[in-house]
Amino acid sequence: MKIAIRYYSKGGNTQKLANALSSELGVPALTVDQGLKEDVDILFLGSAVYAFDADPQVKEFVKNLDVKVGKIVNFSTTAMVKSTYEQVKKLADQKNIPMSEQEFYCKGAFGIFHKGKPNDEDLKRVKAFARSVVK
Ligand SMILES: Cc1cc2nc3c(=O)[nH]c(=O)nc-3n(C[C@H](O)[C@H](O)[C@H](O)COP(=O)(O)O)c2cc1C
Repeated sequence: MKIAIRYYSKGGNTQKLANALSSELGVPALTVDQGLKEDVDILFLGSAVYAFDADPQVKEFVKNLDVKVGKIVNFSTTAMVKSTYEQVKKLADQKNIPMSEQEFYCKGAFGIFHKGKPNDEDLKRVKAFARSVVK
């Protein structure tokens, strides 16, 4: 099974999840400025919300996908809103890429809120999530 991990992270929170996925799945976690070069069965795509929306770089990445992607599995951190699933699904739908119903979400530190998140427990959970996706 071909698996890829891409993410966008301004402050490092989502990157922590990406790195945990990487160590669990044995594939590199790369930023969204590195497009996919070959077809994949599963694309783990990580993002966060900034001013009520996903970052333009995430949108560009999905828009520019020109290989076959079996499905996108969303993972995200935000401070308040509930994950980036709906925003990313909209992008995936425009490209006819199946969006997995499975997603991973946890709070991400933002100023005085959610200090230390994602924490060790979140990283354990995201690794278990990865196992459940690829099982
Ligand atoms: C400029 C900026 C704007 C943000 N706007 C929102 C927002 O509208 N809603 C929300 O839930 N979180 C918001 N956040 C919090 C981030 O989504 C949260 O800290 C996330 O974990 C950041 O991920 P990152 O460290 O991978 O960039 C914002 C953070 C920043 C830095």
